Amino acid sequence: MNKPICLFDSGIGGLTVLKKLLEKFPDEDYIYLADLARVPFGDKTKEEINSIVNEIVKWLVKFDPKTIIMACNTSSALVLTEYQNKLNVPIYGMIESCAKEIANSKYKRISVWATNLVANSAAYKKAVQKTNNSLEVEEIACPKLVPMIEDLNYDNDEKENIIREYLEKTSKDSEALILGCTHYPIIQDKLSELTKVHLIDPAVSLINEFSRGVVRNASGGAKPQISLYTTAQADKMRRFANLYLCGDFKVNLISLNTVAV
Ligand code: DGL
Repeated sequence: MNKPICLFDSGIGGLTVLKKLLEKFPDEDYIYLADLARVPFGDKTKEEINSIVNEIVKWLVKFDPKTIIMACNTSSALVLTEYQNKLNVPIYGMIESCAKEIANSKYKRISVWATNLVANSAAYKKAVQKTNNSLEVEEIACPKLVPMIEDLNYDNDEKENIIREYLEKTSKDSEALILGCTHYPIIQDKLSELTKVHLIDPAVSLINEFSRGVVRNASGGAKPQISLYTTAQADKMRRFANLYLCGDFKVNLISLNTVAV
């Protein structure tokens, strides 16, 4: 039996990673969990993230995954290494593979948009400068973006105003802007209308790394299964998933038996 690839995020953001995985590896089975009961993760403490990830990972390992992907920069920045050390399943995060590619690129100065927790931990800067400490990295916290993207009801002007606010904080001489939160590729088209800076989605590097490391399912067998789960707001998640992944998905509401933090 094929083992699934399990992914998780605080909400709909990780679907941007799932979409890219589906394009590249259409024969895999996928299990996706959104913890919409506790979104956003980016404003929590490290301890809260650790206990949330602990519950999520415990729930996901029951599916006997071939691999787990933290489709979330916030948990990748804070607790990935800990889980890589203690789990028997390979576990991938969003930051390292992108940082490695950027560190070996021609760029001299880049910006990163991210959640409060990721920006405050300087996760991208540290990861890039491990390999290339002459590359300047500025990390900008964009705490209004996840609530805006999750809401689905903001009008065009409201969205543009929020995006412009962060563009104003971004150095004009940055050569590239890393979308350091998996929610941000959802507004990538809007962002491209407002800036000419080169946008980088870390999911692309992650998938390149992943292609080298994971044993893939043989094609031609049974239709791959894509199972979506959420801890709240199942209807919103279903509407968004159907639109974004172009399908007709069922979204299962689950409880991680927890008190919201
Ligand atoms: N999409 C996640 C990330 O990449 C979480 C964002 C949030 O919930 O604040 O960081």
